[in-house]
Amino acid sequence: MSANSSETGALWDGLFSNQINVYGTEPNDFVRLAAGLLKPGSRILCLGEGEGRNALHLLRLGHQVTCVDASRVARDRALTSFARENFSAEYLLMDLSQTLPSGTWDAVVSVWCHLPTTLRREVHAKLSSWLSEGGIYVAEGYTPDQLRFGTGGPTDLELLYDPSQIQQEIPLHLEVFQKTERFVSEGQRHQGMSATLQIVGRKMTSK
Ligand SMILES: C[S@@+](CC[C@H](N)C(=O)[O-])C[C@H]1O[C@@H](n2cnc3c(N)ncnc32)[C@H](O)[C@@H]1O
Repeated sequence: MSANSSETGALWDGLFSNQINVYGTEPNDFVRLAAGLLKPGSRILCLGEGEGRNALHLLRLGHQVTCVDASRVARDRALTSFARENFSAEYLLMDLSQTLPSGTWDAVVSVWCHLPTTLRREVHAKLSSWLSEGGIYVAEGYTPDQLRFGTGGPTDLELLYDPSQIQQEIPLHLEVFQKTERFVSEGQRHQGMSATLQIVGRKMTSK
């Protein structure tokens, strides 16, 4: 499947074409916090990175970033914002159902990257092969409780993070696994009290 034939990419291109900085320009709060766990000069894979706000934050902190997203519009915008500050980062225009080039990363970051169940499970299963030993997975997603708030995120129950399912899927030591009700303010689409799941999972060093 070429990137252009990704239905998901076309769908998200439609959204990003209508608006700029859809989720704001500031990094996600949990990414900002969890960045404190990263060793200097980490190699980081950002899944569903969109317009690049989280990647830009990580670049500013001195990390190396590889982004993945199916939206060409978001990719182009992210690369422009990186270049504006003289950063360069690899940005893979591809659907997460495709196979990533081989490599390992010190961290994998996923923010609001809500995927259909089968694909989400595949992605979670791949985390241990993507992470180097001691590497961390940092993620935030909306839980089904978010349907009560209606302040952003998917409205399709299947796409939301059911903590009991997610806990079983992630093949890492879960250092942080917390349901939150917190105020989210990210662009026009994520505004207000929200129900989220925040995760830090670590690939343990084998003895
Ligand atoms: C809600 S946006 C979040 C963007 C970014 N993580 C942020 O927080 O600003 C979800 C992103 O995931 C991407 N995405 C969704 N499903 C995908 C898939 N199957 N493969 C690749 N990217 C996908 C979309 O293109 C979109 O950029």
